[in-house]
Amino acid sequence: MAGKIPRDFIDDLLSRTDVVDIVDSRVKLKKAGKNYQACCPFHNEKSPSFTVSQEKQFYHCFGCGAHGNAISFMMEFDRLEFVEAIEELARFHGLEVPREKGSRPAMSEEKKQQQLDDYSLMDQVARFFQQQLRQNSNSEKAINYLKQRGLSGDIVKQWEIGYAPDSWDALLNTFGKSPDKVKQLIDLKLVNQNDQGRRYDFFRDRIMFPIRDKRGRVVGFGGRVLDDGGPKYLNSPETRIFHKGSELFGFYHARQQNRQLDTVVIVEGYMDVVALSQFDINIATAALGTATTPEHIQMLVRATSHIVCCYDGDRAGREAAWRALENALPALKDGVRLSFLFLPDGEDPDTMVRQVGKEAFMTMLDSAMPLSRFFFENLLKTHNVGTPEGKRALKNAALPLIEGVLGDDQKQMLLEELAKHTGEYDRFKLQQDISKANNAGRKPGYSPNLNQVGKTRLSPLRMLIRLLLDMPSLATRCQEVQPGVFAGSQAAGMDLLLAVHQYCTQHPHATTAQLVENFRDHPHSPTIAKLLLQEHLVKDEDAERVYTDSFARLLDWHFDSRIETLISRSRVQPLSKAEKEELNLLMKERQKS
Ligand code: UTP
Ligand code: MN
Repeated sequence: MAGKIPRDFIDDLLSRTDVVDIVDSRVKLKKAGKNYQACCPFHNEKSPSFTVSQEKQFYHCFGCGAHGNAISFMMEFDRLEFVEAIEELARFHGLEVPREKGSRPAMSEEKKQQQLDDYSLMDQVARFFQQQLRQNSNSEKAINYLKQRGLSGDIVKQWEIGYAPDSWDALLNTFGKSPDKVKQLIDLKLVNQNDQGRRYDFFRDRIMFPIRDKRGRVVGFGGRVLDDGGPKYLNSPETRIFHKGSELFGFYHARQQNRQLDTVVIVEGYMDVVALSQFDINIATAALGTATTPEHIQMLVRATSHIVCCYDGDRAGREAAWRALENALPALKDGVRLSFLFLPDGEDPDTMVRQVGKEAFMTMLDSAMPLSRFFFENLLKTHNVGTPEGKRALKNAALPLIEGVLGDDQKQMLLEELAKHTGEYDRFKLQQDISKANNAGRKPGYSPNLNQVGKTRLSPLRMLIRLLLDMPSLATRCQEVQPGVFAGSQAAGMDLLLAVHQYCTQHPHATTAQLVENFRDHPHSPTIAKLLLQEHLVKDEDAERVYTDSFARLLDWHFDSRIETLISRSRVQPLSKAEKEELNLLMKERQKS
């Protein structure tokens, strides 16, 4: 791996780049006031809700919530990885991408070449298998098998399905022309070497499915027997270019076939993915003979807003679905729906779609069971909430899972459901209301400008962060706002406010684009993304006022909660002298405002 790209370089790159040019060269923009508009390239729409701000160097779609800077746009639109997007932008400006030394050694030229050779060999092998499907002496048998499975010639070609000859050395002889090549075949697990040093082809007499990685490179194979002999499927073992936990069969195909992947279905088998595509359902992916991993889900939440896990309705299927659920929760951000489709006993997506056809299968996907229902249905099978013990056991089982959910809204939703099942719903609601009231501030009408804040449903703290994200210069323009006084406060989001404010103070001329870039890998980046989705409805000319007012309200709120803490402590034990003084001071402050 190459060393890290220095932050300064990325900042510099962004300041040389105009997001309007980048977007406009891919999606025609129209000037609208001081911004630019177009129909959103990330979702289907008839009237434009995609806005690009030159001043902020930021784009935002009010329809689907897509947003980001020039780098994000290139990542999303051109389907690039982060580093690729940087390299592309640098090339555009004629710059060389520098790398930090020391952190991680740059990939040696030798290693890079090795990788290229590996991908190239895998590609040639895939073509060899395809050619064998047509030319091998067993080709009729293999083709008949595929026909009998109902696959059309077109689909076989599209998925580059092939045939591994019934021979110990067909591949070895074709590609192992030098000791180096033989070693490479062994490294890529295409050829096995036993203890006696005898070498032989790994896949023999099997239907071959090439597995492509996210970027479309062949990294492994799945091979199915034509009859009942031996293990039904053999998959390439892990190699230096093949990591099962982070690849999904069919994902590349799905991304190629859909500009926007509204839904992705996780199925169990290669055949399921291929059969669905024959019915023009190009949104299926399969894990490679392993359970669905957190990496798989992470890959999918970046690509889609709805993941359907499709399993057998039998016990094994439900258990597999539960494991997928457990792995999914920590990656499940807000805005992504997870659901579960259980097929009738004995059916898999392959047999199902052949029976009911595309429309009906799509309807089944649409009506798949929501996460919350599967979650509680499954837990309620083993916990009887008719008794207090059962309620407690349910809570003990559910809470650790719910706490692990990435998205706050999804977490809240599950907590609310849990409270219903444990009969604590009223208490839950009460707590919600109290915290909402706290966030909304205690004194409506404190200042006329606050109505504006109220309308947006953003708490003062969030409003401060939100405004800073939009206008980093507020930090230096409004010196009276010093969130530093809250240092040490445990209030949710306070550390983010401090971090963002500090960044803005140090970089008063930063654009939104640069600010967001600096927080890309920060633990707070999901919160920032979420805040950017919330419209604050504050006009530019009101920004300073709303900003300082929000700070005043936050101070009030902070004083209030400190007063409350001190008063409730005084009921249990006498306050110390310092605490009494603090309380007095706070009360006086409070009366002033
Ligand atoms: P299934 O047995 O459900 O596969 O295994 P399938 O796709 O329906 O197979 P067909 O329809 O009989 O051809 C699902 C997946 O589990 C892995 C493979 O990835 C397979 O696609 N598997 C299954 C193995 O790795 N090894 C096996 O022996 C069986
Ligand atoms: Mn099957």
